[in-house]
Amino acid sequence: MLQNPERYTITAALPYTNGPIHIGHLAGVYVPADIYSRYLRLQGRDVLFVCGSDEHGVAISMKAKKEGITPQEVIDKYDGIIRKSFSNFGIAFDNYSRTSLPIHHKTASEFFKKLYDNGDFIEEVTEQLYDAKANQFLADRFVTGTCPKCGNEEAYGDQCEKCGSTLNATDLINPKSTITGETPVLKATKHWFLPLDRYDAFLREWILEGHKNDWKPNVYGQVKSWIDGGLEPRAVTRDLDWGIDVPVEGAEGKKLYVWFDAPIGYISSTKEWAEREGKDWEPYWKNEKTKLVHFIGKDNIVFHCVIFPAMLKAEGSYILPDNVPANEFLNLEGNKLSTSKNWAVWLHEYLEEFPNQQDVLRYALTSNAPETKDNDFTWKDFQARNNNELVAIFGNFINRVVVLTNKYYNGMVPAPNEFSEVDEQTLAELQAYPEVISSSIERYRFREALGEMMNAARLGNKYLADEEPWKVIKDNPERVQSQMYVALQIAAALSSLCEPFLPFTASKLKRILNVDTLNIDWKVITESADLLPAGHQIGQAELLFSKIEDEEIQKQIDKLEATKTANLAENKKAEPQKELIQFDDFAKMDLRVGTILEAEKMPKANKLLVLKVDTGIDVRTIVSGIAESFKPEDIIGKKVTVLVNLAPRALRGVESQGMILMTNNAEGKLVFVNPDADGVSNGETIN
Ligand code: MF3
Ligand code: ZN
Repeated sequence: MLQNPERYTITAALPYTNGPIHIGHLAGVYVPADIYSRYLRLQGRDVLFVCGSDEHGVAISMKAKKEGITPQEVIDKYDGIIRKSFSNFGIAFDNYSRTSLPIHHKTASEFFKKLYDNGDFIEEVTEQLYDAKANQFLADRFVTGTCPKCGNEEAYGDQCEKCGSTLNATDLINPKSTITGETPVLKATKHWFLPLDRYDAFLREWILEGHKNDWKPNVYGQVKSWIDGGLEPRAVTRDLDWGIDVPVEGAEGKKLYVWFDAPIGYISSTKEWAEREGKDWEPYWKNEKTKLVHFIGKDNIVFHCVIFPAMLKAEGSYILPDNVPANEFLNLEGNKLSTSKNWAVWLHEYLEEFPNQQDVLRYALTSNAPETKDNDFTWKDFQARNNNELVAIFGNFINRVVVLTNKYYNGMVPAPNEFSEVDEQTLAELQAYPEVISSSIERYRFREALGEMMNAARLGNKYLADEEPWKVIKDNPERVQSQMYVALQIAAALSSLCEPFLPFTASKLKRILNVDTLNIDWKVITESADLLPAGHQIGQAELLFSKIEDEEIQKQIDKLEATKTANLAENKKAEPQKELIQFDDFAKMDLRVGTILEAEKMPKANKLLVLKVDTGIDVRTIVSGIAESFKPEDIIGKKVTVLVNLAPRALRGVESQGMILMTNNAEGKLVFVNPDADGVSNGETIN
């Protein structure tokens, strides 16, 4: 870990412009990176925070094919949406670039060329699937076929989604091109590989020895298992028509692999910023006193900890990351976030439903950040965080301070009289917060840091609740001057302490307290508790947070339910029709209307219920595999369809005399095939 860095280069993973961004992206990457950068800026450090759109790669071409538009149209659309989401949520990049810009094409080409000239690549001819009709090589995702492991006929060239196996396109049985539907052929093609095996010793020493104690265990562990698994050469070029041209002879029609060019995007973004600001970009990437930190999600770990560092090492003039504090994944209401299944809270949609409530989401996501393990976002938790923490603690405290100051002193900070022991202690505690919060942030523990910031708000809330100035004012107005003075100092400190986490709230609070020009940084808080001098005029009360009602939350939950139902309906393919039968075959089945009279669980069986059914002919026992879908007490009295002449069968020693007809609803749950029209009586035949 670099001690006393002179400057910081902070990067956040470049999002692919093949879709908008959702809460998972925000929680895992952009909010923590933004907290870190804002915090450092507040400490007066030299910080550069860069990002940009990742606009190459097969994901973009696929999206374009699917929507029948050009890749350029795809990236323009999503670059616009993503940029807007970031700025709406206060993600304060110093620069947000695009990998489609000339400055990036040039930077990435030169990088490749330098490694090529150094002899850092190996050239190899391999056989790849080729679509002769479309006249192009097929990226893995453009091939489908039968999975050799499980027989799924719709496996992709890189993965079978049914059994989860990782595949090579050439492993598929009966491969088909998704572009033309043709059967692809194998064709020889030349590519350049980065021989990662040459970097084995370097990576072991740099990470496995050098960062054993300061990198997060989840990151370290993943890197170690990669290295221990044996590093192999990785292709850094592709046969594609969208991307950066491979800048060497004999590579016509080939492009750089997206994971080769994208991380170089951090460098291009820095160059773009430097040109605009009239600065020198090089110290931010080449000076040993610069601390480079990459914020990413866990699916990006190998690229940032193994491949990109090997590239930087090969190039030779760059620094390496000091840390890569990757997060785990955020789930939504118990399920994995998914763009294709629309299982997400999209940032642009959130703002339509909760206008001006960016900080509530930032707060909920940070409190529940997937720092050490996957975590779940639920709307109920979101509501509780807002109502029980932001509103009830932070907002309540500020509101009381501001209202009382206006009421007692026309908004002027009173001069304190002698401090009580509690006052002294409270102010001393307040002064310790900057250090406590800093220490958590410097170790990339943002949820812990946020918890401490809220503890500072709790300190204020408790102080007022214990001191009760609204009662003391009657008999001892001198004492209230000190009390309000202390409370005001806490409020002022909070306006700065909350800034990295809740930037919108911070500026609102600063406006209310009229402290924009006072420049309350964390050092000032530590050194003196006299932040708002007596006589300082504050403004009127405004609510910092407002309560979120059950109806608003229910609306979001219903929206997700609707998505679930729509997905199930879409995924549901009707089973093929069975072999034809004759009327006589059908007529053999004796189907009757019946009523369930009794129901109980079969002991020691999870799925089975033992039912007594009135079939109109008799009352008989039927064992039915519906215990996971129905509670016994809920189905008593239900009218059902019964196949009464099915030969009896013993299930767990109980003889079942017939079968109740069931089907599935849109959510995949079992439901009865229901003859519940009025006036249908038991024993009625069904035909
Ligand atoms: N676009 C990639 C993703 O969304 C991340 C690229 S990060 C960079 O997973 F380093 F390549 F820029
Ligand atoms: Zn499979």
